[in-house]
Amino acid sequence: MRRGNAKRPLHILGISCYMHDAAACLLTDGRIVAFAEEERFRREKHTGAFPEQAIRYCLEAGGIPIERIDHIAFYWVPWRGVLHRIIHSFHDFPRNCYQSSHRLKIFRDMVGVTQVLRRRFGYRGAFHFVPHHHAHLASAFYPSGFPEAALLVLDANGEIATTTFARGEGTRIDVLRTVKYPHSLGILYLCVTEYLGFRESHGEGIVMGLAPYGVPRFLDDFREILRVTAEGELRLDISYFDVHLSKKRYVTEKFIRRFGPRRMPGGRIEPHHKDVAASLQVWTEEVGLSLVRVLHRLTGLSRLCMAGGVALNSVMNGRIVREGPFEEVYVQPAANDAGTALGAALYLHTVKLGRPRP
Ligand SMILES: [Fe+2]
Repeated sequence: MRRGNAKRPLHILGISCYMHDAAACLLTDGRIVAFAEEERFRREKHTGAFPEQAIRYCLEAGGIPIERIDHIAFYWVPWRGVLHRIIHSFHDFPRNCYQSSHRLKIFRDMVGVTQVLRRRFGYRGAFHFVPHHHAHLASAFYPSGFPEAALLVLDANGEIATTTFARGEGTRIDVLRTVKYPHSLGILYLCVTEYLGFRESHGEGIVMGLAPYGVPRFLDDFREILRVTAEGELRLDISYFDVHLSKKRYVTEKFIRRFGPRRMPGGRIEPHHKDVAASLQVWTEEVGLSLVRVLHRLTGLSRLCMAGGVALNSVMNGRIVREGPFEEVYVQPAANDAGTALGAALYLHTVKLGRPRP
């Protein structure tokens, strides 16, 4: 194995996988040479499978054999936050057995990723686990071209954090504040997506598109279920959700009593489904606006960078651009976890290896 030095180009491969939106990215001296999502090769939307074909594509596009890769950066630290999750899930035992075993499988897959790289590519070089929100932050800040910026990650969840406020300056990224699992705007959105009969982590864009057909008559209900404070803290009333217990149903009977019958996948879209989508969407936009105002107060900066799955909500982003306090806004185009393949590589290059900002 060869480690990069100042004279020879430094090649870093970034990868994300095992949950959804698997991807790979090749950086050479911090420059993006290739990036690909595994779904494009497998023809399976949002696949979380090990991105073997995406990696092969990146290596071929760059003309770099695996032996010349100096480092591989992975978008998650599997053991980070495990204790936090165990404490949170303890009182739900044994009802959460399914989700716990599902989480355990993801944990095992992630910890074993170096063996998969060795088996399939013969890679034995340097390997780094990068905290998930650091990867999101890097994916937004470094490509933005802004010398300094306020940074916001709006996600379902990382290892612990669901929302991260940070400040970027030059090569530095400083985390200012985080909101911890399970309090999450992204979790609210994905649970309601499942209630509306669309696949979570797949159909959120459809819900956003459904929203203009409804009336936001449930807005006050969502205001109560996900509270946001003046300091940017989120509080999700978890009694409405089963996402931490079940793989099949994400909302409780309490939610259904309040909002009406769920829509089964492929079923008829009733008026109350459109109204729920409209209400969720408006509340998402308002929470997004509240959070960027908090971040603006915290940093005093005029530019904003955003990433995380919720930052794919273009209607919210439009309101942040038009009504928010920032003069310029950059949203990482691959704001979902695919972009963390890029972000993990950029974070490793710039922060951990101390190389110049690309
Ligand atoms: Fe994420």
